[in-house]
Order: sequence, then structure tokens, then C-alpha cells
Amino acid sequence: MRRIQGRWAEVAFPEAFMDELIARNDIVSVVSGYTVLKRQGTRHFGLCPFHNEKTPSFTVTPEKDLFYCFGCGKGGGVVTFIMEIEGLSFSDAVYFLARRSGMTVPDREEDKTARMRARILRLNLDAAKWYRANLGGIQGRAAADFLKKRRITPKTAARFGLGAAPDSWDSLINAMTQAGYTKQELIDAGLAVPGKSGGLYDRFRNKLIFPVIDVRGDIIGFGSRVLDDSKPKYVNSPDTIAYSKRRSLYGIHLAKNTKRSDLILCEGNIDVLTMHQAGFDNAVATMGTSLTQEQIKLISRYTKELVLCYDNDDAGMKATNRAIELLSGSEISTRVIRLPQIEKDGIRVKVDVDDFINLRGRDAFERLLLGSENNVEYLLSRLREGIDFSDDSQKVAYLRKAGELIAGLASPVEREVYSAREAEAAGVPAEAMRLEVQRFRKARLKTAKSKREREALSPARTVQPKERAIRYGNVRSAIAEEGVIRLIANYPEFIERISLEPGEFSSQVLEKAYEVFRAAVREGRPPGISCLEGQLTQQETSLLAHVLSEPAEIENVQKALEDYIAVIRSEREKEAAAHDENALTAILREYRSKKGYGG
Ligand code: CTP
Ligand code: MN
Repeated sequence: MRRIQGRWAEVAFPEAFMDELIARNDIVSVVSGYTVLKRQGTRHFGLCPFHNEKTPSFTVTPEKDLFYCFGCGKGGGVVTFIMEIEGLSFSDAVYFLARRSGMTVPDREEDKTARMRARILRLNLDAAKWYRANLGGIQGRAAADFLKKRRITPKTAARFGLGAAPDSWDSLINAMTQAGYTKQELIDAGLAVPGKSGGLYDRFRNKLIFPVIDVRGDIIGFGSRVLDDSKPKYVNSPDTIAYSKRRSLYGIHLAKNTKRSDLILCEGNIDVLTMHQAGFDNAVATMGTSLTQEQIKLISRYTKELVLCYDNDDAGMKATNRAIELLSGSEISTRVIRLPQIEKDGIRVKVDVDDFINLRGRDAFERLLLGSENNVEYLLSRLREGIDFSDDSQKVAYLRKAGELIAGLASPVEREVYSAREAEAAGVPAEAMRLEVQRFRKARLKTAKSKREREALSPARTVQPKERAIRYGNVRSAIAEEGVIRLIANYPEFIERISLEPGEFSSQVLEKAYEVFRAAVREGRPPGISCLEGQLTQQETSLLAHVLSEPAEIENVQKALEDYIAVIRSEREKEAAAHDENALTAILREYRSKKGYGG
């Protein structure tokens, strides 16, 4: 089983088998069954068997086990070739080649993966029961006291299956191995961590335990909190075969059954407990990470209305802006709750929703909810903050920014309503605001038009992959990413010497190739198209065959890699800067695309 960045790639066949299959089915001899190849240097040329041509543009590079046609853009390894030419699925192509070379196909790993996942879910359930049982006993005393201090009732604790991990290095390991689980299973579930000296210890020690439960009611992972002021405050399960943090929301197993029409997104575990206890059984939380596209998809299965309720500190506001931007691309409408600062022992402090409910009560929160602003109102009122309206220059600066934001709204009615409202608030004639909005609107339309024209003519278009289904979002970065992929396929030893992380890639396909190559090198296998077969779509395989088929003889590999990485990083920084600068543009985009305005 190949493990990629915490995700488990579902590889259909064992790697050793695939390696042998590819070695035994030499690509030149396989392809020669379908077209005549002539050798030229390290490549073989022939007429493409996939499209009609008079001069050969089809190439096979045996040392890289790949084929690529410069005419039609098809490419891949030997398995892809058979899939395409014989019209077979991936696994049927594998059977075809196995028969051709007299090999027997071993058991499929997919079934094994499903079995392992089921086993981990069982283990998680047994572990959760064990943690839960501790909470009532002497072992769980500190955790129970903590819950009392945070005003979490036993009933709430029961609904969320809270538990306690004792202050011990291996009591969970002992209990679970006695129950018949293996040490490897405990590691795979993320419950045990191998030590440096070969030992094994419990991941969660002296902690309050929060099982993470999915919509089916399965316990997929765990969060945990320290019981004192030590750091780190929270320790969570790693991603496992059963647990993907990007796809999970704490509390969703209960919130999905709420009678309320919306979901409320908070920042953490305790927030969710307090909210549910106060009657807001529609609260969920991302656990210390920013909202992802996958979580938005999960939310949209249950509601089209989301209320953001992050802390009112800098981090919370940043998270809110990011969430607004991400949500603007979805069908979910967003409102934002602004938690007020609260007087505590004579000073005004920033609070989270847990504090707010404990200090002010559920009715006060219900009022906040009723008064919550939609995303446009929220952004406008954020703009208004700190502006002294008796100072004309500040007022003008504010009206400009507001005008720009409003100009981006696609609905004329909305533009009208918000213009009038902002004008009144600032004490200027509605007509002045309307003109300001119109000015920005004209400018927007003009830039959008010239941008479209530029794009249509841009040379960058020709750099986009031939494969129609794949478009590079950031061509400059993607070209550098291609360079990295090509170099490490040729000089695998360099992959351990560079600090580039898969998350820094802009292109998903290239990122995946990088992950797979890195895993392959760590296992001592050569990176190349063969390790990717069966894991990519046909278009993606062709793209990579193209990237890899280009020669990469080079003097200073390290320097070249560093140059590519510098380009990638500077593109990421540019994007991040643009991203932080304004969630406003996202709103503008949303309104245009939703309402179908040319914009
Ligand atoms: N979190 C995490 N890892 C950390 C810190 C936080 O996973 N090192 C997650 C937890 O899910 C936590 C959420 O982020 O519930 C919010 O963290 P934080 O704001 O630090 O929580 P507080 O409200 O300060 O802490 P608490 O209410 O638990 O005392
Ligand atoms: Mn808190």
C-alpha cells in the first residue's frame, strides 16, 4: 500500500507486481505490435496508432517507459497504451499484460483497504468506549473536573461521547491489544505512536478526549485537550485511512439533524459543546484548520445557509475573510456573527462564542444571530470601522472603498439599496454615492473586457496543456512545477535535497506526480510514468508523458531546481497577498457569476 501525504491512494495492485509487470512488458516490443518503430538516439519514432498521419510524430522512450505523440497529445506508460489501444479499463489492461508475459495477477488491494478501514473504525469505537469509561473513574477525575469548570454537563458529554485519557504511557495500548487489536492497527488508527527507541506509546495522555464522528455515526478520529495550561493545548489524530481532516467537521453527526435552517460554523471543540448545550444544535467546527472546499461540500449537503462565528480577534477575522471568499464560489449564502468585546473584571476583552454564551446567556446569542450581517453588510461595516465621519478626507476615502465594493454587486437592486444606505450613514446625498458606484462599475466592465481580450491573445494560452480538460490556473508556476517534475524523474536523488512541499504546487496533477515520485524514491523505486499509471485520468497521464518525454540533461541540477522553486514560491506569495488584500473581490465575483452578469 502506498501512502501519500496522509491520504491512502487506492492502488489496485501491489507495487512489486506492477514493477515486474512493466519490466516484463517492454514498451518498445508492446507498441511494436501496433506500429512500426524506428530508433533515433534514445527515442523510437513511428506513425501514431491513435490518429491518422503521414509523417511520424509518435515517440517511445524506453528508458523512461513512456510513449508520447506530438501530433495528438496522447501519452503514458505501457499500461495506458494497452488501455487506449485495446479499449480496456485499467485493471483489464493489467490482466492483458499479465497474460502476455505469463504472470499471475495477485489479489486486489482495494478489498484489503476496505477491510483495514472497517477494522480501524471498530478500533476507534472500542477506544472511544474505553476513554468514555475512564471519565467516570479515578483515572478521569481531572478531565471531569475540567468539564465542570467549563460548565459542560454530563448530558452534553454523553451526547458527544467525551472521554478521558489517563496520565499513562501505554494504558490504551494495553487495553486494546488485550481486546485483540495489533500494534500496527493502533498505529494505523493514529492512537499509538512509535517511539525513537522502538517502543510504542499512547498518543493521547492525560487529556480530555473528543471523538470525531462522521455523518454515518462512525468514529473516524479524535481530538484532545490538555487539562491545564500546558502547550500544545490541543492534540489531534493524524489523517488516517479512516480520517481526513479536510473532509470532517466536529459536531456534524448531531448538527445534520437540527430543525434550524442553517448551520453555524465555530472555531473549536468546546465552542460546539457549549453551543449545543445552549440549544444551538446546528453548530459545527473546523478543528484548528481553515475551512476547506471539501467541508463546504459537506455543509451544502445539509443547508444552503451558513453562519460564521469565529473569534473576534485578528486570527478570527482573517479566517472569516478567507471563509467568505471560499464560500463565494459555492451556492451557500453566508452571514457573519460579530462577537462583541465583553467587560470582564473591569476590562473589555475579546471573547469566543463559548465565553459569550457563558457570560451573556443563550438569549443574547440568539439576538446576535438575528442581527447577524450578510457577507456584504459585514464587509461594509468592517470598512467603516475606525473611520471618523466628521473628517471629510476619511469620509471620502471610505465612500470610495464602499463604492468599489458595491459596484461589484451584480444585482441593480442591491447596488441601489446599499448605495442609499451607505450614503445616508455617511451623510452625503444618495446621488453622489450612486455616481461613485457607477464610476467604479464602468471601470470594472472595462478592465474585465480588456482582460478577456488579453487572455484570448495571450501567448500563455499556447503554454496551456494540449489536454483540453486540464488548464493551469497559474501558468508561470505550472511551468516551473513541470521543470521540477522532469528534473526529479531524471535525477531522483535530488528529491531528498529540496524543501518543496506538495502543498506548494498550483497544479493538482503535478502535485500528485510529485507526491507519488517522492513516495517512490523513499521506497527505493525509480520515479516515472510507471508509478503513476492507474492513478491518473487519461488526460493527466498524457500531460505527464509530455512533460517527462522532454530531455532534461543539465549541468547544475541543484541550481535549476532552486530556480524553479523560487518561481513557485514567489507565485504562491503573490497569490497569498492578493488573497488577503480583499475578500471584497470575491464577493464581487460571486455576484457576477451567480447573476450571470458579464461584469
Ligand atoms: N486547535 C488545535 N490545535 C491547537 C490549537 C487549537 O487543533 N494547537 C483547535 C481545536 O479544535 C480548538 C480550536 O482549534 O478547539 C480553537 O482553538 P483555541 O482558539 O486555541 O481554543 P480556545 O477557545 O482558546 O480554547 P478552549 O476553549 O479549549 O479553552
Ligand atoms: Mn474557547
